[in-house]
Amino acid sequence: MSQDTSPAVRSFPRDFAWGAATAAYQIEGAWNEDGKGESIWDRFSHTPGRIETGETGDVACDHYHRWREDVALMQELGLKAYRFSISWPRILPEGRGHVNRAGIDFYSRLVEGLLAAGIEPFVTLYHWDLPQRLQEAGGWPARRTADAFADYADVVSRSLGDRVQQWMSINEPHISALIGYGEGRHAPGHRDQHEALAAAHHLLLAHGLAVPILRANSPGAKAGIAIDHHPQTPASSDPADEAAARFADGVTNRWFLDPLAGRGYPDDIRGAYGDDMGFVRDGDLDQIAVPLDFIGINYYARNIAGARGHSSSTVSPSGEYTEMGWEVYPEGMFDTLTQVHSMYGFPALYITENGAAYADAVGPDRQVHDPRRISYLRRHIEQVHKVISLGIPVRGYFAWSLLDNFEWSFGTSKRFGLVYVDFETQERILKSSARWYQGLIQGNALV
Ligand code: FCB
Repeated sequence: MSQDTSPAVRSFPRDFAWGAATAAYQIEGAWNEDGKGESIWDRFSHTPGRIETGETGDVACDHYHRWREDVALMQELGLKAYRFSISWPRILPEGRGHVNRAGIDFYSRLVEGLLAAGIEPFVTLYHWDLPQRLQEAGGWPARRTADAFADYADVVSRSLGDRVQQWMSINEPHISALIGYGEGRHAPGHRDQHEALAAAHHLLLAHGLAVPILRANSPGAKAGIAIDHHPQTPASSDPADEAAARFADGVTNRWFLDPLAGRGYPDDIRGAYGDDMGFVRDGDLDQIAVPLDFIGINYYARNIAGARGHSSSTVSPSGEYTEMGWEVYPEGMFDTLTQVHSMYGFPALYITENGAAYADAVGPDRQVHDPRRISYLRRHIEQVHKVISLGIPVRGYFAWSLLDNFEWSFGTSKRFGLVYVDFETQERILKSSARWYQGLIQGNALV
């Protein structure tokens, strides 16, 4: 690591991957163009009542047509890395079988464009847009979806593996399974605890099946997964609240990290679920525990866990919240990284998402001033720096998100971008946070 030049300047390692992240369904649009198949998010957003604003992702940021302009913005920002996801039904419209050449070509051109701009592509294979046909055949609660994912990983890595060197299998298996199949707030909108647990298992299995394929087709590449991590603060020192925090940690964090690290599912949570988990077959846990080159962590906020709900008199949240209603708690970034490192010791860590939604607006000067986002990013990145100073191998940071986009069930009402998007005209405007981030990347230091 390079040395700080003064106490006020916090430098980052020379090859630190400063990036921004997006996901296919949230930005691409072109939902039924050039042979793309329907995804569960197309179906979900077209179902009345599912998206708060009544919107769909049919157009979103129209990135499918405007990707050159978007790569130019990334270049202007000085990004070293860009994390994006591939739309499975754009590659395999029915989920398996017939390969849509136009889909491959789109991502191939994007990768070429990024490399030409000096930006390293970090590719996520699955960021929630399952082909609808596979959902109709059982979706993630069905084991064959994991097998289909392995075939999909093979097709993509055969096509892009010569140029892409950083792969993530799945984004946030926890959210995908529990919110999509357990709580119903995400596609496919089911509410069934057993389905959610089976889905979680098959998402992890899909990851385990895909990683060796990625390595075989993409020699020298690094493979990982992106998980959402939620540090849990007990609402008080009452043992019941501490137990609630331990339980919440198990459900949201350990249930995914333990099997990825070769420890199987945590017994305390397994017992509490009381599910027979007959979907776990011999050998699955070994497959899931395939060694990772890195773990990607998405961190946004902590959770206050209490035996009697989430309110408390002893732990007072900072009082600062984002437009999502999420507490701003930068120390949680430190807790997350140090906890994951000390508990599991993966060879490298990336922050694959971190950011905040605010109600940004274009001012009379046609500029978008977002000081609260700058403050959010700065304070979280300070914590990342602190973690690196301890010698913990954090290799990169991806701001969520490059662009304001389609924020799932909230539609375009929640703006997370460094770049403002006018969804009527598709005009892009760099927010002040984008300028701030540009300066940070240029100096490779927080000043
Ligand atoms: C994460 C998702 C990402 C975005 C952010 C705000 O859970 O991975 O797509 O929605 O939250």
